[in-house]
Amino acid sequence: MDQWMNKVFERTIATHKAFAGGNTECFRLVDRDGAEVVVDRYGPCLWVSWMRNHPPTESDLAAIGQLAVKVGCEHWLVNGMVNRGKDPGSAQRWQNSGFPGRWQAKEDNVLYNLRADTGMSPGLFVDQRANRKFLRQHTRNAKVLNLFAYTCSFSVAAALGEASAVTSVDVSQRFLDWGKENFASNGLPTEGHVFSKADARDYLALARKRGWSFDFIILDPPSFSRSKGKPFTVRKELVPMAKNCFDLLAPGGEVLVSTNLSTWSMGDLKGELKKTIGCQMRQGESDSDITDLENSAKTLWMKKSD
Ligand SMILES: C[S@@+](CC[C@H](N)C(=O)[O-])C[C@H]1O[C@@H](n2cnc3c(N)ncnc32)[C@H](O)[C@@H]1O
Repeated sequence: MDQWMNKVFERTIATHKAFAGGNTECFRLVDRDGAEVVVDRYGPCLWVSWMRNHPPTESDLAAIGQLAVKVGCEHWLVNGMVNRGKDPGSAQRWQNSGFPGRWQAKEDNVLYNLRADTGMSPGLFVDQRANRKFLRQHTRNAKVLNLFAYTCSFSVAAALGEASAVTSVDVSQRFLDWGKENFASNGLPTEGHVFSKADARDYLALARKRGWSFDFIILDPPSFSRSKGKPFTVRKELVPMAKNCFDLLAPGGEVLVSTNLSTWSMGDLKGELKKTIGCQMRQGESDSDITDLENSAKTLWMKKSD
């Protein structure tokens, strides 16, 4: 076995020991600083993001299969991430036969619906687990706004934390419907909560116009996107949006600002926010399975004074 794969094996087994048998079945086994691959476990499925600059060889795939067996995963899948920015259509995928299109797995005893047949991610970003947990623990009777909601994992956490109302905003109805499935799988009613198909920027403008306020706002956008031909770029728009969110907070409220932009360090993010918004800030929560802090989500909580 190649040396790099040996490293992946060692790290996988070590992290697996730390998490296996707990109430979380979705966690990172190897972070990117390990060997230019990210290995995440989602219950019975090993999900490998391949960032090496050549495709996996037959022997790499055989080793990944062995790794899956070693940690008790029935299935494995490899997503080729090389050149995705330049050519998203070039994505390549390898998987064992029988890899499910859809399945479920738990995070902190919360059930998520996962899919291999809808996009490049299975529907849950493991590097936000600790922030979801924080939200769940602090949202009793709170009004929560989740922008760029995707499969509504933050919304599920807030609703389980007994938030009084959770609003999930995303441009994609397909993702909002997936989010509603996640509510249903956890016995959460969707009535009393809002699922709004809208551009997050338009939603913030509407909220401002109507004078709505929130106790918690999640601002966790993709680095780039194009909604109805209107491009969104984190570099230009994250800070003004964070300011708009901050203005909508009720006294004592908090905004989670998050970005995966690899060219911004945590220091850059903090510095940019500080220039525009003077408030208390603290670094977001993180768990021990996330070791490459520069390439995973960089998260900050901004708090409004009481
Ligand atoms: C990287 S995900 C966001 C991750 C999410 N916050 C989570 O916790 O899983 C990207 C999501 O942003 C949505 N999106 C992209 N541009 C948008 C926009 N301008 N307004 C609202 N949603 C948008 C996409 O449809 C997708 O669901």
